[in-house]
Amino acid sequence: MSSKSHRPSKVTSTIRDVAVTAGVSITTVSHVLNETRYVSDELRERVIRAMDELGYQPNVLAQGLRSGQTKTIGLVVPDMSNLFFAEISRAVEDLIFKKGYSLIICNSDDNPEKQKTYFGVLVAKQVEGIIFISTSFSEDFLGRLENTQIPIVFADREIPSTLAEAVLIDNEYGGFLATDYLISLGHKRIACITGPSELTPSADRVNGYYRALDEAGLPRRPEYVIAGDFHYHSGEKAMLHLLSLDPKPDAVFVSNDMMAFGSIRAILSCNLRVPDDISIVGFDDILLAQASSPALTTVAQPLQKMAENIVESLFVRMQATRQPVERQRIILKPELVIRDSCKEHPKIVNSERETQYVNH
Ligand code: RIB
Repeated sequence: MSSKSHRPSKVTSTIRDVAVTAGVSITTVSHVLNETRYVSDELRERVIRAMDELGYQPNVLAQGLRSGQTKTIGLVVPDMSNLFFAEISRAVEDLIFKKGYSLIICNSDDNPEKQKTYFGVLVAKQVEGIIFISTSFSEDFLGRLENTQIPIVFADREIPSTLAEAVLIDNEYGGFLATDYLISLGHKRIACITGPSELTPSADRVNGYYRALDEAGLPRRPEYVIAGDFHYHSGEKAMLHLLSLDPKPDAVFVSNDMMAFGSIRAILSCNLRVPDDISIVGFDDILLAQASSPALTTVAQPLQKMAENIVESLFVRMQATRQPVERQRIILKPELVIRDSCKEHPKIVNSERETQYVNH
């Protein structure tokens, strides 16, 4: 029989193994793990040595259930393949990691049923807070959200709920900025590729598009407003339709960058050029916007400020001893970033331009 201490053959050791190896009670091991009561240095040392020797991994969830602190936050996003959500998830994760928390990121795939399932998973995992970038949802799910005891902050997409704590951007202003810039370049036949109409960011951007046309005295052309779904291929498909119109538009506001890239692909496939034949403005300013060719002129979302406000709002609520009645709606301003995908309409010269936009 080998004289070496016999390591249990089990893949994972239990708290009982630690207690037996250390020669203490399970309660003592639990107090060392959860710091719920004083334990002498000598006993603490024996417990820690036993854990090292056994390679014991405490069950964080079980620990959390006891202490009420799992040090975990949930984040639900609609589409992880869209860099916008990857970038905002990264910004949020960076901030909560610095606070000693972990992040569970759930991708709802723009699917309300999947969104509901993931909400249940986060509740079961006892997360201490949830950040929700929602896709469409049912009334009963809204009721479930409002009745949960877990602090929730909605981001990016408005939730028609009196209890919603929300961090949003002024999407109407963003749509106005994009369209007013195209008007300042002399374009008059300006189309719009929208996102899903049931989502507030898209609906508000379209309202800003219409306001810019109205204020410039340009007609609203229903045939120039084409629905996309915020994904790349819907931008390509919508642009091919716009190019089939007569007259075709000479500029297009596209409601997010992913669809803007798809629309540029469609323009090139018709042997037309951006911006020489058609000017394009996107929305989001994801990393690819500056890397694309031509580099995309777009409406930049203040991602870092959004992430800071989201995390701050959530932790205020997590630390509140009771849910504050007052719910904040924080609305941040986007800004136009001028790059290479827009050009003055050939029929206008600089001096005639009323609104002067300068590059940031
Ligand atoms: O690109 C995805 C879009 O959905 C972004 O504009 C963001 O605002 C989200 O609503």
